Amino acid sequence: MPAAARSTITHLECSACRKTYAHDRLQNLCSCGKPLLARYDLEAAARTLTREALGGRPATMWRYTEVLPGSPGVSLGEGLTPVVHACRLGERLGLRKLYIKDEGLNPTGSFKARGLSAAVTQAKALGARVLAIPTAGNAGGALAAYAAQAGMAAVIVMPADTPAANVMECRAFGAEVRKIAGLISDCGRYVAEHKEGEGWFDVSTLKEPYRIEGKKTMGYELWEQFSGRLPDVIVYPTGGGVGLIGMWKAFEEMEKMGWTGSGRPRMVCVQAAGCAPIVEAFQRGGESAEFWPNAATIAAGLRVPKALGDFLILSALRASGGAAVAATDEEMLAAGRELAALEGIYAAPEGAATLVAARKLAAEHWIQPEETVVLFNTGTGYKYSEAWEKALNGPG
Ligand SMILES: Cc1ncc(COP(=O)(O)O)c(C=O)c1O
Ligand SMILES: [Zn+2]
Repeated sequence: MPAAARSTITHLECSACRKTYAHDRLQNLCSCGKPLLARYDLEAAARTLTREALGGRPATMWRYTEVLPGSPGVSLGEGLTPVVHACRLGERLGLRKLYIKDEGLNPTGSFKARGLSAAVTQAKALGARVLAIPTAGNAGGALAAYAAQAGMAAVIVMPADTPAANVMECRAFGAEVRKIAGLISDCGRYVAEHKEGEGWFDVSTLKEPYRIEGKKTMGYELWEQFSGRLPDVIVYPTGGGVGLIGMWKAFEEMEKMGWTGSGRPRMVCVQAAGCAPIVEAFQRGGESAEFWPNAATIAAGLRVPKALGDFLILSALRASGGAAVAATDEEMLAAGRELAALEGIYAAPEGAATLVAARKLAAEHWIQPEETVVLFNTGTGYKYSEAWEKALNGPG
């Protein structure tokens, strides 16, 4: 990479009240309780971050170094995942330009690698010692792996019924696993209550500012992989919503750098019918979501009854002219089989949910046959043996 390529981060800014914070020390939420976002000198970034320069850079998300917090990153080769043209599936849905961005090919098998690579990089640089995370599964595995590479300790707090593969990988990476009888929201409370006493730095979704920075690189990659254009529609399985908010942030930055005009993809949020607080809020016109009681779904990553960034997700959906759709577990399992049999992609149920939504929206003509549509398969199916067992053999 040429010497001129360096992070242009200037400060952190509250996503709600706009109060600013220094980026050269560990930070969690704003004093108002809302997430902090990293801000950059985008004029300076645009001088060195060009398509030509990108041609010679490493094939990881750290290629966008000017708009990432610090480098060199704690990296296992995350990012630059393939965009697969899903021809056979597209034919079935009546969509000629249907693509799947396969995030299952990231280290530790999910897009969570991006966020944790960025968060662990910063936490290490700024002096954190023990990193703690509440997780539905995949984020825990990713934190454990990056902490191992960084030589840091990690505590993973997960629901007792988290898929077995996630528990195993965390242990293999040397992290301490604590299982909680409850949901990710209960795990979040556990971390909040124990962090001071046990000396942990809390890397919960949106409670530190850098996981979103890693995840936003999915937006930069789409622009690069579609040769300097953005797709018409992005379908994204939403739990905490960090990928969706992150891509939206990336599109804003790209416009400020003069890469794109003001046009944006329409963002579609997919949730599980058994836990759909954002879909419910979107449909009733709410600015934030209500806590979803008795959340239940086979898609562990979508079992998030209340997202800290709900107001950011809803505002991005509306600003983009987007939509919010729920998929039942049965629909996800059937869609997973279809994705596997027609495209050779063994998806997580969360990823399969995007196919359910695309089919519904295409049938309603909300998506037009000529539009370019990207589905995000956010994780590999190889960690979801319990769900795949049901998909192949039925619930019995
Ligand atoms: C495979 C998978 N997809 C989607 C999600 C939801 O991600 P986000 O928090 O970005 O909405 C998760 C979160 O755990 C996940 O593991
Ligand atoms: Zn604030």
